Amino acid sequence: MCGIVGAVAQRDITPILLEGLKRLEYRGYDSCGVAVHADGALKRARSTERVAQLQEQVAKEHIAGFTGIAHTRWATHGAPATHNAHPHFSGHGKGSARIALVHNGIIENHDELRAELQAAGYAFESQTDTEVIAHLVDHLYNGDLFEAVQQATRRLEGAYAIAVFCRDEPHRVVGARQGSPLVVGLGKSENFLASDALALAGTTDQIIYLEDGDVVDLQLARIWVVDHAGRPVERPVHTVHVHTGAAELGPYRHYMQKEIFEQPRAVADTLQDIESITPELFGDGAYRVFKEIDNVLILACGTSYYAGLTARYWIESLAKVPVNVEIASEYRYRDTVPSPTTLVVTISQSGETADTLAALKHARSLGMEHTLTICNVATSAMVRECKLSYITRAGVEIGVASTKAFTTQLTALFLLTLALAQTKGVLSPAREEEMLKSLRHLPVAIAAVLALEPQIMAWADRFASKENALFLGRGMHYPIALEGALKLKEISYIHAEAYPAGELKHGPLALVTDAMPVVTIAPRDELLEKLKSNMQEVHARGGELYVFADADTKIMNSDGIHVIRMPENYGKLSPILHTIPLQLLAYHTACARGTDVDKPRNLAKSVTVE
Ligand code: F6R
Repeated sequence: MCGIVGAVAQRDITPILLEGLKRLEYRGYDSCGVAVHADGALKRARSTERVAQLQEQVAKEHIAGFTGIAHTRWATHGAPATHNAHPHFSGHGKGSARIALVHNGIIENHDELRAELQAAGYAFESQTDTEVIAHLVDHLYNGDLFEAVQQATRRLEGAYAIAVFCRDEPHRVVGARQGSPLVVGLGKSENFLASDALALAGTTDQIIYLEDGDVVDLQLARIWVVDHAGRPVERPVHTVHVHTGAAELGPYRHYMQKEIFEQPRAVADTLQDIESITPELFGDGAYRVFKEIDNVLILACGTSYYAGLTARYWIESLAKVPVNVEIASEYRYRDTVPSPTTLVVTISQSGETADTLAALKHARSLGMEHTLTICNVATSAMVRECKLSYITRAGVEIGVASTKAFTTQLTALFLLTLALAQTKGVLSPAREEEMLKSLRHLPVAIAAVLALEPQIMAWADRFASKENALFLGRGMHYPIALEGALKLKEISYIHAEAYPAGELKHGPLALVTDAMPVVTIAPRDELLEKLKSNMQEVHARGGELYVFADADTKIMNSDGIHVIRMPENYGKLSPILHTIPLQLLAYHTACARGTDVDKPRNLAKSVTVE
């Protein structure tokens, strides 16, 4: 999703800006741009291609300067086109452009501001809400950029992180944030801004996380932060060692494939040689919190939401604590009945998802103070906003479609289940030991499922010509069916739906013909016989069943029923194992269709807008 980098220095900063954009590239974008202060004027290059092409353009046009800003854009207002790409310029009635600005987020009152600025004589070159902010800052500018940005942000409604500089103040960049992340990087007689510390890796590890409402003044030898009320504030400086590795593809065709195959390692790292279950795995004070709470509310989006749905089955059956799971973007706009004895759990790979962050804040505003996050980025806003946390150790995930982040989330959620069960007195030491043993064996079990890849590739060739697919699961495997369908649709663009198998006859059975592949998750569990009946309902109507069946299910290959046998039955942890073949099926189907697997159309990695 959109990314920001800014710098004020005494050396040419274009390499730093472009390198920063490259580090943010994997999050997805559809255009990019850079602007610098050069020879008393603003210079800019913008492109609807990759950052590498922008870099060539910058070299060709000799764009260089000591002060500048850069951006990757994921279109919200206005098509992905050069004239909509950031930075946006403004300079009403002053000849050349005076203000350059980049923006992440969405300005909700942009129509009203646009009308006001048009009436004041500003001509708009783009359809973006961002250009509105550039003109607003220019309109309010009276010789002091910091002052103008503070005034302008008071007029903005919505979410934003912005970076701005001005032709008339060559050694200054001003930033502001509300609802979208923005960090300051400290250097020696040079300072930086970015939407993520990752963008500044290799340039500085001294990072300040700005808070909502902050406006920051970056100059060569000083930085100055004021809060939403304009009061000077000190924000702590963190030494942040951002992991930038994992960029090598090695023997894999795509990052997604690499990340699928990294799952044994990622799960093992997430388990961190845990020897016994204790609430303190989730942070100091977790025991007291787990003791006090009597229900759990899980908030998340997309794949992370499906991890939450799976966890509901675990927590309710093993810890006997009632669980609600809510799509974050819906929860925050719904009238709910809050309870101070709720444990609010957010799940997020990036830790920056705007909908999940907003839902968390909403829950807190309703008086729910017991907050915990399962997150893959230790320095993210989500971790900073929650009292308790568990950091999954998936490593950087570059493919837009989440794979290893999901299975490590499930691993962490299973640990949470056990910690809750222990605190509530419903986990015997023998059961704890048995569960820990299963968890420790998980990486090996995942590796055995990965070995099914050649069989799954043969299926993928058949799926490639389809336009629709159904996914069936029951119980705790229903969320895994949802995840399988999401993977298939987001990277292969095949329309896929998931249903609890018992629900078929209540409507979706009407879709079943011999052109409809029906992927079925068939673990050996207490629902197996019911599932077999549901499969018969499909078979009788000519549907083609593609079944991932546990070894001892006695489901056999026959006409219209294709079976891949899972290496072992994995009890409560079975959803983690059954995820793997669905990831591989989606991946190889997408490859067979020739889609852009790592960067599927219209999608971004870290969704920082509402
Ligand atoms: C799908 C996918 C998304 C994310 C969702 C939440 O493959 O990756 O559905 O799960 O956008 O993102 P995080 O987990 O970063 O909050």
